[in-house]
Amino acid sequence: CGIVGYIGPRNVKNVVVGGLAKLEYRGYDSAGIAAIDNGNIKVVKSVGRLANLEAKLADSPVDGQAAIGHTRWATHGKPSDENAHPHQDCSGRFAIVHNGIVENYLSLREELVAAGHEFRSETDTEVVAHLIEEMYNGDLFQTMIAVGKRIRGAYALVVIAKDHPDEMIAIRKASPMIIGLGDKENFVASDIPAILEYTRDIYVMEDGEMAILRRDGVECFTLNGEPVSKEVYRVTWDAVSAERGGYPHFMLKEIHEQPKAVRDTLRGRVSDDLNRVTLSEIGLDEEQIRNIDRIHIVACGTSWHAGLVGKVAIEQFARIPVDVEIASEYRYADPIATENTLIIAITQSGETADTLAAMREMKKRGLRVLAITNVVGSSAAREADSVIVTWAGPEIAVASTKAYTTQLAALYLLAVHFGQVRGQIDEATAHEMIEALDNLPQVVEAVLDTAPQIESFAQRYAHAHDTFFIGRGIDYAVSLEGALKLKEISYIHAEAYAAGELKHGTLALITDGVPVVAIAMQPDLYEKTVSNIVEVKARGAFVLALTWVGNEDLEKAVDEVIYLPKTLPALAPMAAVIPLQLLAYYAAVARGNDVDKPRNLAKSVTVE
Ligand code: G6P
Repeated sequence: CGIVGYIGPRNVKNVVVGGLAKLEYRGYDSAGIAAIDNGNIKVVKSVGRLANLEAKLADSPVDGQAAIGHTRWATHGKPSDENAHPHQDCSGRFAIVHNGIVENYLSLREELVAAGHEFRSETDTEVVAHLIEEMYNGDLFQTMIAVGKRIRGAYALVVIAKDHPDEMIAIRKASPMIIGLGDKENFVASDIPAILEYTRDIYVMEDGEMAILRRDGVECFTLNGEPVSKEVYRVTWDAVSAERGGYPHFMLKEIHEQPKAVRDTLRGRVSDDLNRVTLSEIGLDEEQIRNIDRIHIVACGTSWHAGLVGKVAIEQFARIPVDVEIASEYRYADPIATENTLIIAITQSGETADTLAAMREMKKRGLRVLAITNVVGSSAAREADSVIVTWAGPEIAVASTKAYTTQLAALYLLAVHFGQVRGQIDEATAHEMIEALDNLPQVVEAVLDTAPQIESFAQRYAHAHDTFFIGRGIDYAVSLEGALKLKEISYIHAEAYAAGELKHGTLALITDGVPVVAIAMQPDLYEKTVSNIVEVKARGAFVLALTWVGNEDLEKAVDEVIYLPKTLPALAPMAAVIPLQLLAYYAAVARGNDVDKPRNLAKSVTVE
């Protein structure tokens, strides 16, 4: 989502709506503005793109001296006028905009309803507006400190209050926020592009900081209200690269967003003691989970590849047989399913025509469909019986990266959850797995440090005609995604092969200097994979291998090794896919391709 707040003499509507327009790439299913206008807070909001809000504002203008605005990318609650931000309390004395997730919103909502508050939306955000009303003691700043202590989760919040027309308060916990410093005016925003037209001097708010903005100054504090002194940071990027957070392409930005995206997807779904997975949104009780006798995963493209990893994890942890089907095939295949077959549709956009058709076919047959999607309110989310939302945030680059890793996170959660409920994993193993899941964002973060090494390899091999990706077991599943990424954006022909299958024909294509990327992240299969590496080396291949830190043995067999942090073997795709994404990216850049918009491909394919 995007947030903009402004306090100063300019036309507040123009500043806020103009700023939101610069953030529309972050989410665009609804938008709204609130301003302190003639002593009262006036809110105008609308479902749909910003143009819809502007049309409403033409009939019902807002003005004033302090205003906040928001473009929404739905998480809790479908896109609608009611669910659009800003949200208000019952009396209309406060208005807030929020990015992120309030994890304990259900219990807070219950408490506030019991205290007489009436809710108008399905969002997690609205509880914060009511909580402010409930806790308000005449001092807005102290109230916000107290409110901050009651809400759990990740958030960037900005609040305005009728009784405090000369200030606005911003709080940051985990979700990004910056403050723009002007002359007799100040700005707050989730991202730099929103304010670049007016100022290049900013404070970058750190995690756990809050600020009071007034016309003539900004004060920053810790969440306990202790003053913090901030350094002014001068933005030197142009407006275009600011949209990409300073990265040259959205794809690289999104690759680097993966630690956060994975963390957001795991958030609230593993217990604090790391002993349990909570996935109440799947709407299946323990008995229903025990009764599942088969799972069919249906998806297209990268989502299908995520499904292949999911199959290995679900079969290993929960011992439920899983078939992973390409949606365009499945829909016409007259699939054989029992009444206890669970259908899992994986779709980033939630709008892929083939995946939707497969879902509809199985729903018609009375089967239960669970969707894993990144877009709340998408067709898949609306039509499925239940939904696991991946919290990757909007993905702009056509080649999918953070959507894939968050799909893996969702599938791992599901695999552990099913395994626990079905008694396939004991408590100690469950704890070990959940701890490893919880640690995945750090693993991804550490893997991103391999970027320079990958870039150097990519530059040397950017003009290759063919490449091969090999691996065994779950490493094979991730090598399929590596090959796809390379093909999609670098246009280098790539094939993924189960390492043991190469000698049954494909070995004929390995000649002098052909690059082979070997994934060797499974200790159990390690020696077998090395035998296959030796086979390609003997035919002249140049082998780049991925393996776990400390496995220096591999250096004897290959030309170059990339070491990745050790995690559970089943979780290794989360680490291994990152260098593969980077490889595709740097190869595409070296070839001068349009990385974010590769030829002939569309982000979301809504035709058959
Ligand atoms: C298109 C995109 C792919 C994507 C596939 C499935 O082909 O180019 O990157 O993996 O659709 O999309 P979905 O939104 O259903 O995950």
